[in-house]
Amino acid sequence: MTAAATLLHFDDETAAAHRLADAAGLRPACIERHRFPDGEVRLRLPPVLAEPVVLLRTLDQPDPKLVELLLAARTARALGAPHLTLVAPYLAYMRQDIAFNPGEAVSQRIVGGFLTSLFDAVITVDPHLHRVATLHEAVPARQALAVSAAPLLADLIAERRPGALLVGPDAESAQWVAQAAARHAFDHAVCTKVRRGDHDVSIELPPVGVARRAVVILDDVASTGHTVAGAARLLLAAGAASVDVAVTHALFAGDALALMKGAGVSHIWSTDCIAHATNAVPVAPLLARALGDLQAGRNT
Ligand code: R5P
Repeated sequence: MTAAATLLHFDDETAAAHRLADAAGLRPACIERHRFPDGEVRLRLPPVLAEPVVLLRTLDQPDPKLVELLLAARTARALGAPHLTLVAPYLAYMRQDIAFNPGEAVSQRIVGGFLTSLFDAVITVDPHLHRVATLHEAVPARQALAVSAAPLLADLIAERRPGALLVGPDAESAQWVAQAAARHAFDHAVCTKVRRGDHDVSIELPPVGVARRAVVILDDVASTGHTVAGAARLLLAAGAASVDVAVTHALFAGDALALMKGAGVSHIWSTDCIAHATNAVPVAPLLARALGDLQAGRNT
């Protein structure tokens, strides 16, 4: 990305925007936002837009943010931005990738198509891609780049819990566990999970010895915390010396944090893809590299 490019952001992500702007050599500029009493929103973009524009918006609590993206992207185009990149460290709606029941919206495809209609390029971190292989299948923008924070979480685990046993709480986590384990030769294994409802999962431990091991549960996302809590209880009951958690996206809905702690989890480390008190791994350098890769035409 050229030094002249603007990084648009909203006021609630100013700190993250400045970290990314510093790492990527961008000029941060805040979008003015007015929320009307009836819930509608008015945006005003800074006068900087006859140049490539990067928009930072992490998409936890996504619904109002999707309208903001619609208004901001269309306005940036109207003001003359020739190229628009969305940096969404957390990309919402990726888990609904098929219609599990007749008539269900396939949200991944719909939201992916919506973002494609607004942006030339989309960058995200560890999107929850389960039944599709690449981000481009879910978000068919001209450029769609998914980068992984698993190596960064692995580095943190190696520092805080050298020799840990990495455990993925379900089959989907295997991709991140494998990456992290490969980086520091961690022992690793993956549980089996059956989900019956938002707050109802049952987990089976893999056939590995956990007694007296320092275990770190690694996953892309914790939402209600039930997956992590269920795995932690089983691991501790099986004799694990400690259970910590490393997660890319700290969604932590409702009482998730208390639930995980109550299950015996000692430490929870997250990336700053979503701002949270547990953030321990900054992703700005990773995102800056991704912007450089896109500019160089490298696109996965
Ligand atoms: C699903 O496969 C994800 O990787 C997470 O395990 C899941 O979204 C966690 O959800 P929750 O925290 O609500 O159990």
